[in-house]
Amino acid sequence: MEIPTWPRVPCPEPAFARTLVLGWFLLQVAGASGTSEVVVAYNLTWKSTNFKTILEWEPKPINHVYTVQISPRLGNWKSKCFYTKDTECDLTDEIVNDVTQTYQARVLSYPADANDYSGEPPFTNSPEFTPYMDTKLGQPTIQSYKQVGTKLNVTIQDARTLVRRNGTFLSLRDVFGKNLSYTLYYWKASSTGKKTAKTNTNEFLIDVDEGENYCFSVQAVIPSRKANQKSTESSIACTSHEKGVLLVIVIVALVAVILIIILSVTLYKCRKVRAGHSGKESSPLHAA
Ligand SMILES: *[C@@H]1O[C@H](CO)[C@@H](O)[C@H](O)[C@H]1NC(C)=O
Ligand SMILES: *[C@@H]1O[C@H](CO)[C@@H](O)[C@H](O)[C@H]1NC(C)=O
Ligand SMILES: *[C@@H]1O[C@H](CO)[C@@H](O)[C@H](O)[C@H]1NC(C)=O
Ligand SMILES: *[C@@H]1O[C@H](CO)[C@@H](O)[C@H](O)[C@H]1NC(C)=O
Repeated sequence: MEIPTWPRVPCPEPAFARTLVLGWFLLQVAGASGTSEVVVAYNLTWKSTNFKTILEWEPKPINHVYTVQISPRLGNWKSKCFYTKDTECDLTDEIVNDVTQTYQARVLSYPADANDYSGEPPFTNSPEFTPYMDTKLGQPTIQSYKQVGTKLNVTIQDARTLVRRNGTFLSLRDVFGKNLSYTLYYWKASSTGKKTAKTNTNEFLIDVDEGENYCFSVQAVIPSRKANQKSTESSIACTSHEKGVLLVIVIVALVAVILIIILSVTLYKCRKVRAGHSGKESSPLHAA
């Protein structure tokens, strides 16, 4: 990845006000002359799910390009997505090493022909972003389920995240520990009355009525959060005794067929033996 030449990167603190004024000034000039040389970004928005984190903004550039910078609180700015014509930038790599840190990003605007640009580019700051608190919980996936007698066992897949520790990717459970819980919504297939169960593991073991079919879905929850507490619900799964009954019928049928075959063979052998003894009547099978 190329590093921009130094004059293009603004010196942080004292330059802020000047840059803003310059940006405003350039906007005015652009508006007046109609050449829209440099337009500042607006509506900067963090889109983050299970720590996959993208900064989006507007507008689509015409005669300019953007560079994004990100920094932890009190840290140094790091540039990403150099001179891009996109209106989004993937910042996942910059936040996964410390997801409890609070970050700020900014989007700098340069004229499309950035090579001759020597001024300080106008920019817009993003809202602050703390991955551990702000990343949305992805839709969970039901990994497996089993209904045996009066027990229903539902296991939720532990989603892998892009957060790394000691060179390995952590799962959602690794990152959030007991702060992460799941809610199970379940109901008899024959009715609509829903019940709920909670767990702070990835497994539910609930009491159900024997012989009834159940449908259910799960939702990830971080109760200690004020915002983005819940994921969307997983897709719905249902247990099916019809399948069980069908399996029993198939097994019974198979056993019956095997019994008939054994019986036929035995019968055939008996006849052969009998035929051999009498010496006169030959079995129809021998004749054939
Ligand atoms: C900025 O985003 C908000 C919400 O996403 C939207 O209502 C508003 O129209 C956007 N502003 C502009 C100028 O597009
Ligand atoms: C529930 O199912 C999972 C996966 O099949 C299994 O690992 C677990 O031991 C089961 N739990 C109980 C209590 O049967
Ligand atoms: C990571 O490695 C350090 C030492 O290198 C060790 O103390 C720590 O327990 C490891 N963490 C995990 C989650 O394996
Ligand atoms: C749970 O979240 C809080 C912050 O909301 C944090 O201080 C705490 O360490 C977390 N606990 C675990 C087990 O991750």
